[in-house]
Amino acid sequence: MVRIGPNEISFANIEVVKDIYGQNTEFMKAPIYDTFSVPPLGIFSMRDKATHSKRRRLLSHVFSQSNLLETEPLVREVIRRLVRRVGDSPELPLDMLSLFRRAAFDIVGELFLGQSFGGLDSTKQPDFLADMESFFINSGIQGGYRWIHKFLEILPVPAIRHFLTARDRIIGYGRNAFESYIDHYGRDSGRKDLLTKFITVKSDVGDDPLSDQEIYTEIANLVFAGTDTTSTTLTYLFWELAKHPQLQARLRGELRSTNDSYSDGIPEFKDIQNCSLLDACINEALRLHPAAPASLQRETPSGGKMMNGVFIPEKTVVSMQCYTTQRDPDAFNDPEAFTPERWMTANGSTPGMKALFMPYSQGTRACLGKNLAQMELKLITSSLIGMYDVRLAPATTEESMRTKDHFLVMPKGRQCNLIFSRVAKE
Ligand code: HEM
Repeated sequence: MVRIGPNEISFANIEVVKDIYGQNTEFMKAPIYDTFSVPPLGIFSMRDKATHSKRRRLLSHVFSQSNLLETEPLVREVIRRLVRRVGDSPELPLDMLSLFRRAAFDIVGELFLGQSFGGLDSTKQPDFLADMESFFINSGIQGGYRWIHKFLEILPVPAIRHFLTARDRIIGYGRNAFESYIDHYGRDSGRKDLLTKFITVKSDVGDDPLSDQEIYTEIANLVFAGTDTTSTTLTYLFWELAKHPQLQARLRGELRSTNDSYSDGIPEFKDIQNCSLLDACINEALRLHPAAPASLQRETPSGGKMMNGVFIPEKTVVSMQCYTTQRDPDAFNDPEAFTPERWMTANGSTPGMKALFMPYSQGTRACLGKNLAQMELKLITSSLIGMYDVRLAPATTEESMRTKDHFLVMPKGRQCNLIFSRVAKE
């Protein structure tokens, strides 16, 4: 247990995971999340438990496995564009952080806004992505250094005003995209995206459907929640694969054994979803390089709480962070090594591994987009590794890939340059 400040304590002890994050926990999200919210509140930052579970019940329908599988053609279309971009520059360094970001962004655009943002087709970074970066940095300042934020607010400097108003523009994108979607497709278009499901979703316990304002707030939040998380995971996974050429060859062997007739290089999800080495590589990237490695803060309930033999007073911020739990040497042998085999049960996985592995968090606030993220990670990895060898470009070093933590992580060098070479068909 570590005291972080007068009113904040962080644990690295698995016994308290269920207390803080479990299904029946009395803990609420901590006030810090107020600064990460795009107003009016969406699911990600709702602190009141009853309001949150009502919203979560509705959104869980939208994210059901059957809805996700219906979206696969839209996801594959974006991946096809990503593969084309990679194929256009053989043997040249490509900044895969940027390309994975654009791909993840285009996918959530297709699914939640009914249109691709065209990130992969453009040379310029889309404005939404730039605003997302500003929003995150701004939220960090607001949460940790409120006085600096107050000071910035009174400065009449256009660039600072632009930086501080990123949050309003994000909501604006959500609203405009929603309105043009309704104009273009109507309210029940039958289009195989998730926005249609949002518009038509009905509660099975009589909760009110989502209002238009709630829908566009949520879709802006989801574009946000589903972009940098997925792209950072892909970036670090491909960085690790680039350092382990033999692993790439084994992975390619596994992928090709499932279906040797990838019609256009993009496998179907049903063919690869149970590939054990693919699964293990993704788990290991999520373990060693979690996109959200920092403390997920919660607040002790009224009356306080005994935790791990210590009484913690009410309204104290308590948390754990998967960066620590996923490096626990009692559960993960040689924890700093990238060893996908540890997830392939016979090879040394320990009982504690599953309990300590929480890149998507756990319990009632766990990631709603996990299945979508897994589908994207698996389809993109198998499409690229099925066709290409990947290696490090000289600019990509251990130092440039050290992480910077802005709640979500980013490589310090803000790039990840990799070189792809086409492999022969067997
Ligand atoms: C590898 C990719 C991803 C990772 C590592 C990840 C991780 C997380 C984590 C750690 C949380 C919990 C935050 C907390 O407790 O404060 C979370 C929540 C959430 N994520 Fe993800 N996420 C990923 C992808 C996605 C995608 C693709 C979407 C949807 C487009 C999504 C939607 C959400 C939502 C809606 C929540 C809030 C759930 C709630 O509060 O009930 N995530 N995610």
